[in-house]
Amino acid sequence: MHKHFLSAADLTRNEAEALLERAAMLKAEWRMGGQGLHAQWPLRGKTLALVFEKPSLRTRVAFEAGMTQLGGHGSYLSANDIDMGGRESVPDVAQNLSRWVQAIAARVFKHTTVETLARHASVPVINALSDREHPCQALADMLTLRERFGRLQGLKLTYVGDGNNVCHSLLLLGATLGVSVTVACPPDYRPDPEVLAQAAAIGAETDASIVVTASPVEGVAGADAVYTDVWTSMGQEHETARRRPVFAPYQVNPALLAHASPDAVFMHCLPVHRDEEVTAEVVDGAQAVIFEQAENRLHVQKALILTLLGL
Ligand code: CP
Ligand code: NVA
Repeated sequence: MHKHFLSAADLTRNEAEALLERAAMLKAEWRMGGQGLHAQWPLRGKTLALVFEKPSLRTRVAFEAGMTQLGGHGSYLSANDIDMGGRESVPDVAQNLSRWVQAIAARVFKHTTVETLARHASVPVINALSDREHPCQALADMLTLRERFGRLQGLKLTYVGDGNNVCHSLLLLGATLGVSVTVACPPDYRPDPEVLAQAAAIGAETDASIVVTASPVEGVAGADAVYTDVWTSMGQEHETARRRPVFAPYQVNPALLAHASPDAVFMHCLPVHRDEEVTAEVVDGAQAVIFEQAENRLHVQKALILTLLGL
């Protein structure tokens, strides 16, 4: 396994499967009252720095609670605290933190910032969301699908909306694990061509197809999972008004969901804007697994930290 986790493509298929297996075990043990590794506190004395340039609910709390559950500690540093690149250079932040903590999780605007941190840190760096990827989210999403369907190979996940960070990590991790990923998006908001090519190359090895279409109805046809995310990601707020009419035809609503498989689940990384990218009816309906996805962030992130630390 790579020393760092910056991209969903940093994991081989075996590594990704082992991580999900470990996360499933940690989840089961936690639900049985904190058994197994939770009772041994393998992270005793260890600290994870959480360097966040943007807000967070799930990622932050899942990392902090995960460290606590395994006997360690999460130290949260907002942009106000350290002002990376302003008060102090990114390489200097990396080198300082490496003297005190055993791993760094960073949520950044520019993907290059997390790469720079990794280059200069002597401890593992985890991408906790950048403008390019959100690989921890994709891990939780794959665990959620595995739980629901009992397998990943051969499933079809359709992502409807903006070809953004969440979409990129789903393409890469889906392909790695044999999940075919279709992206239904406006022509001007397609995923990055480099990521698409990388996902297609990975998918060629795992029998996973990678498809992009402008038609939500065609994209969703027969899908086992229909996934969407906000139309305007953090950092793009000035584009909100321009994006709204472009994405309106891509709203996930009962009529669109009806084109998916009858057993399909509805997925969203959250936070969600009800009646914008998805109707309230779907978010709060029986097909939604959004809080399972959120819960699974905790367990995949614990598995990830343990693995990166060689524990
Ligand atoms: N899904 C997700 O990463 O949520 P937060 O932005 O609240 O961390
Ligand atoms: N695409 C969203 C995901 C938030 C978890 C964003 O980057 O804001």
